[in-house]
Amino acid sequence: MADLQEHFDRTIERDQRVEPRDWMPDGYRKTMIRQIAQHAHSEIIGMQPEGAWITRAPSLRRKAILLAKVQDEAGHGLYLYCAAETLGADRTELTEMLIEGRQKYSSIFNYPTLTYADVGVIGWLVDGAAICNQVPLCRSSYGPYARAMIRICKEESFHQRQGYELLMTMMKRGTEAQRAMVRDAVDRWWWPSLMMFGPPDDASPNTARSMAWKIKRHTNDELRQRFVDMTVPQAEALGVTLPDPELRWNPERGHHDFGAIDWSELQRVISGNGPCNAERMAVRRAAHEDGAWVREAAAAHARKASAVSRQ
Ligand code: 3HC
Repeated sequence: MADLQEHFDRTIERDQRVEPRDWMPDGYRKTMIRQIAQHAHSEIIGMQPEGAWITRAPSLRRKAILLAKVQDEAGHGLYLYCAAETLGADRTELTEMLIEGRQKYSSIFNYPTLTYADVGVIGWLVDGAAICNQVPLCRSSYGPYARAMIRICKEESFHQRQGYELLMTMMKRGTEAQRAMVRDAVDRWWWPSLMMFGPPDDASPNTARSMAWKIKRHTNDELRQRFVDMTVPQAEALGVTLPDPELRWNPERGHHDFGAIDWSELQRVISGNGPCNAERMAVRRAAHEDGAWVREAAAAHARKASAVSRQ
C-alpha cells in the first residue's frame, strides 16, 4: 500500500496524469467524482436559461447560434458524465442525486433570463467566467477530466465570443431601448458571475486539498480576480458600466480592486433558495421522467442485440 501511495504522490509531484486504472486514494476519487459530476450537472441545467430564448431569437442566424450553443452544453454534460464513469460513478445514480438535491450544480443557472440581452450577457460573462475557471482544469491531474476540458474550452470560447458579438451589435447598432436592455442584463448578471467561482478561499473547504492534488491549479479567489481583470476592458469596449462603484485599477496590486460580494446570496442560492432553483429542478425531473421510455427501449435493444451476438 505504501508503494502505491508513494507512486501516486510521485505522479502528482511530477505533474503527470492519474489515469482510470491507476491506484488513487479514496479521497481523491471521491472529490473527483464530486467535482466532475457537479460540473456535468451544471452543463445540463445550464441549457435551460438560454434554451428558453431559442424560439424567440430575433433572426435565423441568432437562432442557429443559440441552438448550437445549447447543444454544445448538452455535449459537455455527457462528456463529463463519461469522465465521472471512469472513476466508477454511475450516471443514473448521479442524475438521481442531482434531482434529489444530493448533488449541486452551478448557482449561476438559478437566475432568470428576462430579456434577449441576457443571452448575450450569459455568453460574455457566464461563459467568460467558465473559461477562466476551466482552462486551468485542462492541466488537472486526473487524465480523463483534463482531456475533456480541452475540447470543452474550445467550444466555450465560441460561446463567449458569440455573446460578446451579440452585445456589441446591440450597443453599437441597436436602439436606445436595446442598449438599456444590455445595461439591465449586465447589472443583473455581474455579481452572480463572480459568485460562480465559489466561496472565498478562507471559506472553501475543498480548495486546499484540491490544490495539493493538482485537481485545481488556482484558488477560487485567484480565478475570480483573473476574470475581473479580463472583463473590465471588455466592458469599456462595449460601453457598459459594471455595477460596482468600488471597481478600480490598483497599480500597487497590478489588479482591479472590487466591492464586497454578498456571500449570503451565494449560500441562499446553493441551498436551493435562488430565484429559479425550483423551476430548474422541476424541468430536469420532468425531462428525466419523460425520457424513461427511451432509456428502457435502448436497454431492451441492447439486451436483444447482445443475445443475438451470443447465438
Ligand atoms: N454553485 C454551486 N455550488 C458551489 C459553487 C457555485 N457557484 N461554488 C462552490 N460550490 C459548492 C462546492 O461544490 C462545495 O460543495 P460540495 O463540497 O458539496 O461539492 C462548496 O460549495 C464549497 O466550495 P469549494 O470552493 O470548497 O468547492 P470546490 O473546491 O469544488 O470549488 C468550483 C467549487 C470552483 C465550482 C469547483 O468545483 C470547479 O472548478 N468545478 C468545475 C467547474 C464547474 O463546475 N463550473 C460550474 C459552471 S459550468 C459552466 O460553466 C458551463 C458553461 O457552459 C457556462
